[in-house]
Amino acid sequence: MATAQIYPSMLAADFGRIADAARAVAGHADWLHVDVMDYHFVPNLAFSPDTVDALRRVTDTPLDCHLMIENPDRWAPGFAERGAANVTIHAEAVGDIARTTDAIRAAGARTGLAVKPATPVEHYLDDLHRFDLLLLMTIEPGFGGQKFMDEVLPKIAAARRLIDERGLDLWLQIDGGVNRETIERSAEAGVDVFVAGTAVFGLDDPAAAVESLRALALAAAPRLTAPAAAFVSPPAPAQAPVADREAGGGAAAVGGVPA
Ligand code: DX5
Ligand code: ZN
Repeated sequence: MATAQIYPSMLAADFGRIADAARAVAGHADWLHVDVMDYHFVPNLAFSPDTVDALRRVTDTPLDCHLMIENPDRWAPGFAERGAANVTIHAEAVGDIARTTDAIRAAGARTGLAVKPATPVEHYLDDLHRFDLLLLMTIEPGFGGQKFMDEVLPKIAAARRLIDERGLDLWLQIDGGVNRETIERSAEAGVDVFVAGTAVFGLDDPAAAVESLRALALAAAPRLTAPAAAFVSPPAPAQAPVADREAGGGAAAVGGVPA
């Protein structure tokens, strides 16, 4: 079983009010997706390690950095050092996968491998164990608001089979064109981590949009489970003093949420 996770993409937020956007989905978004673009790997420019610092000052939601840059070998570990909880590098750009993933992990982050729609996952089979997440792009990277590429669905299903057959500990993420119309078939095909920009921050109530996307994914794919109570319920009440708990009078860890 896997948890259905929704990662709002900050690329779709109002850049003048990025902190407000992060706060608007706090307690609902599992993680925040932070796109990094360099005008070279993609024809657009966005976000930097300073964005990671700025977001960490305003939210406890973990940050998922998606590096759409050339030479991630050189730059990716720096995002982990700034506190990104996951750093995803593109297969088409990386030089030395082993060295770069080791450096990201040594800096304390999880690692992701991203592939563009036309890049086969099969080329990287021997390296998948070095990653915690596999990102299958469902658009050509570079811009939000593009149309979901249905032709990626068979690739998603194949990746899901591969992960299950090999028993890989790998989250399967998609990014691009995820919305109320496309999330169900993506979930059915085997995705457990959904990045959504326009379909979250393009709506009046981004928190409600996150919950409604998650509900659609959960309804479409029985293999997916709801996340821990921390994401869907208010925080548990404060723990009773230790003496009370030992006497059986406390309400410790209500809902499984650690205090
Ligand atoms: C584009 C980015 C995406 C983008 C998705 O290359 O990687 O994260 O924000 O935007 P939507 O969800 O609007 O397609
Ligand atoms: Zn992205």
